[in-house]
Amino acid sequence: MYKYSVSILGTGFIGLCSAACFAQKEIKVIASTHDEKKAKLINDGIAPFFEANLQEILDEIKAKNQGMLQCLTGSIDAIAATDISMITQGTPMRADKSIDLSFIETTAKEIGMALKNKDKYHLVVVRSTVVPGTSRNLVGRLITEISGKIPGKDFGLCMQPEFLAEGRSIEDTFNPDRIIIGEFDEKSGSMLQEFYEYFYGEHLKNCPIMRMNLESAELVKYGNNSLLSTKISYANEFANFAELVPNVDIVQVMKGVGLDYRINSRFLGAGVGFGGSCFHKDVNAIKAWAKTKGYTSRLLEAVLGINDDQAIHVVDIAEELAGTLAGKRISLLGLAFKPGTDDMREAASIRVVDELLKRGIKDIVGYDPKANETAEREMGKKIEYATSIEAALKDSECAFLITEWDEFKSLSPDDFKKHMKTPNLIDGRRIYDYDTFHAALPFRAIGRTDLK
Ligand code: UGA
Repeated sequence: MYKYSVSILGTGFIGLCSAACFAQKEIKVIASTHDEKKAKLINDGIAPFFEANLQEILDEIKAKNQGMLQCLTGSIDAIAATDISMITQGTPMRADKSIDLSFIETTAKEIGMALKNKDKYHLVVVRSTVVPGTSRNLVGRLITEISGKIPGKDFGLCMQPEFLAEGRSIEDTFNPDRIIIGEFDEKSGSMLQEFYEYFYGEHLKNCPIMRMNLESAELVKYGNNSLLSTKISYANEFANFAELVPNVDIVQVMKGVGLDYRINSRFLGAGVGFGGSCFHKDVNAIKAWAKTKGYTSRLLEAVLGINDDQAIHVVDIAEELAGTLAGKRISLLGLAFKPGTDDMREAASIRVVDELLKRGIKDIVGYDPKANETAEREMGKKIEYATSIEAALKDSECAFLITEWDEFKSLSPDDFKKHMKTPNLIDGRRIYDYDTFHAALPFRAIGRTDLK
């Protein structure tokens, strides 16, 4: 089996984690970024951002497989020196909520320029999340126009959607549950399949490779993120139903529903709603894309609306519990969009803060074990930033649990009673034992109300 070399064009979570995992298995990888500082860090074996286990893999490569991973500041040489190029650039959300394909466009042009002078067959793989038609009509077209080469003959084209979750990128790269290959033609798909047969070996016994056309693969990714977001909004809708009936608990209800093998209980966690760089961006992008084709998505509109409303809802239940909050000091425990990261993109904390401010509640203090700095960059002076749980709770009259970090899970009712001026607690992620907390202090939790 031939061991292909790979260029990775874009060194974000997906790009760098893939590059590191490939290199660790002795596949020659040349990554490229326009950021000189980042390239130097990677070449020195230092992870330029935090992601669980990434640094460990880079250390291993440095110790055992030096030379397998290098990073250049331009893509042309990286493309020229490798057999396969993977596009792993970001596809952010534009102000009108549609997809911004400018990084993909630039990279496709660079590939076109590189291939102009390359005689050997080269495979291009789009791994970024892109709306249907992008791989063929933007990437494939630009490469053809600029290089003068013929797709299917001189170069191959695939689209392989990515399912890594932040904080699990390395684990997910090594243990995917399936590999989706969208192919321009059979030769392209077979070459990528061969690459993964080498990389995954035995793991493929439990991990099907599914091949389809480019546009279907592009849509699989949106199908995935849209369904996961839908599950969360569905759980939040039922949490709101549960709150209409005393002593009905959403956690039990979703556990009961999730035991159906056709459903499963993952992503049925009700709470303050989903955040992160992907769900909002992708659900909005596919909705906006459908609109350009004349189709209005009622389902995805509702998914996003329910998610936004959760931030209003937690503030409503806090005011039911503690009375009007204006003039009182409020604490937010957790600011990051999920535990295990300092990423603040689309975090629920931002929506909760905006809702508090809208109601004239200005004395807000937040604490996050990892995201204080990124939160300050995102929210500036809208809130104060505490450096410990105690400092965040001091003088507070209502605390909101927003991100389910382990260090918050171990808090007892006494911790809130001891540090707060008036201990009112809203559990926005259902991490506290309802009966214990409800008996011990004024307490509300998403998806449950009580007669007492
Ligand atoms: C998500 C997907 O899970 C990945 O499969 C996908 O590859 C990635 O987006 C992407 O498109 O790049 P990620 O955004 O890193 O990954 O994080 P998740 O673990 O999916 O969590 C997203 C949000 O949903 C978090 O704010 C989390 O708190 C929330 N969530 C999750 C809930 O509110 N309830 C749940 O039951 C599960």
